[in-house]
Amino acid sequence: MTLEEFRARFPIFHRRVYVNSCSQGALSIDVDQAIRAYLDSWQESGSPWEMWVDQVEKLRARFAASIGATVDEIAVTASASAGINAVASALTFDGPRSHVVIGDFEFPTMAQIWLAQERRGAIVRRAHATGDELPVEAYAAVIDERTLIVPATHVCFRNGHKTDIAGLVKVAHDRGAYVFLDDYQRTGSGPIDVHALGVDFMVTGCLKYMLAAAGIGFLYVRRDLIERFEPTVTGWFGRVNPFAFRIDAIDWPANAHRFESGTPAVVNAYAAAAGLDLLNYVGYDVVGRQVDRLVERFAATARDAGFMVRTPVDRARRGPLVVVQSLDAPGLVARLATRGIIASSRGNGLRVAFHAYNNDADVDAVMSALVAESSWLERATATAR
Ligand SMILES: Cc1ncc(COP(=O)(O)O)c(C=O)c1O
Repeated sequence: MTLEEFRARFPIFHRRVYVNSCSQGALSIDVDQAIRAYLDSWQESGSPWEMWVDQVEKLRARFAASIGATVDEIAVTASASAGINAVASALTFDGPRSHVVIGDFEFPTMAQIWLAQERRGAIVRRAHATGDELPVEAYAAVIDERTLIVPATHVCFRNGHKTDIAGLVKVAHDRGAYVFLDDYQRTGSGPIDVHALGVDFMVTGCLKYMLAAAGIGFLYVRRDLIERFEPTVTGWFGRVNPFAFRIDAIDWPANAHRFESGTPAVVNAYAAAAGLDLLNYVGYDVVGRQVDRLVERFAATARDAGFMVRTPVDRARRGPLVVVQSLDAPGLVARLATRGIIASSRGNGLRVAFHAYNNDADVDAVMSALVAESSWLERATATAR
């Protein structure tokens, strides 16, 4: 599928300039039809659970292939939070390793779940950013022989900074700690190979660059780690055979199913599979190159216009999201909406996110709108530029 054909699958582009994939991916004809197919199956067959469970298994396999994992390394969860909670509940903090090292750029759910483990003996330590930079050295300053795990977001939802995960894995593994990647702000916007990256755990979900709806998340657990863990946040779908309906004993499958809990969100599995298929038809390399090109075009033009771009200049340190500092970002988002542009804000950062369905005309439309609304934007000082 060409990029033009891909864009044509998203009707919203007839009406809007959509640059908010960091919140929610645009709705494609395909995901729309997949949700209808689920409703049809329900209407037609009443309760085709075998077919629905099979759909979840197909999704698991497709997602595994999309990140370079094997199917037994993937748990299908209700959210990224559910995956993080399952792992956190499986760890103990009463041995020599009780520290959890959290960087300043984490999404709140990641920090909050580990802070909740303090009641169980965890000690949460912080790797501090300098402005909008969070180098591996900041982590290296706090990771030591007491560190159990380092949860780390790949791309920061507030400023678009992309952490050097391969570098972080090296530091953490050298010192005996696990790395838990949160890839939610990146998965679907380009290729990833979890084995090559070397992370121990990863979570993500479907509603952003994976082009589907809330209600499905994924947890990756490195094959050789799976059988070390028995989560206390669990449920019947975490068993060897959920349909054995046992209430007298608990067993642990040898695969990542052991990190699952309740009935999967089947309707969202239909949507998620359709989103993944679309990305596959385009190809992750093509998607990644288009996103990188648009991000570069937008960030460079915004800098040239004198705006304060918070996302790093270095291509290796940024993902699909560019954040421009505003004097009143919620107000600016509302102004842009009157011009047919859908963006979002966090604090006073205006978030402009690109996916492969965006094109040069979208970049130029956002830029012209920002120039027209430039009184809402912070100006960069010569050095900050
Ligand atoms: C980086 C990141 N992690 C986690 C989440 C939340 O995941 P969930 O609501 O599926 O638990 C988000 C949602 O915006 C996010 O951006």
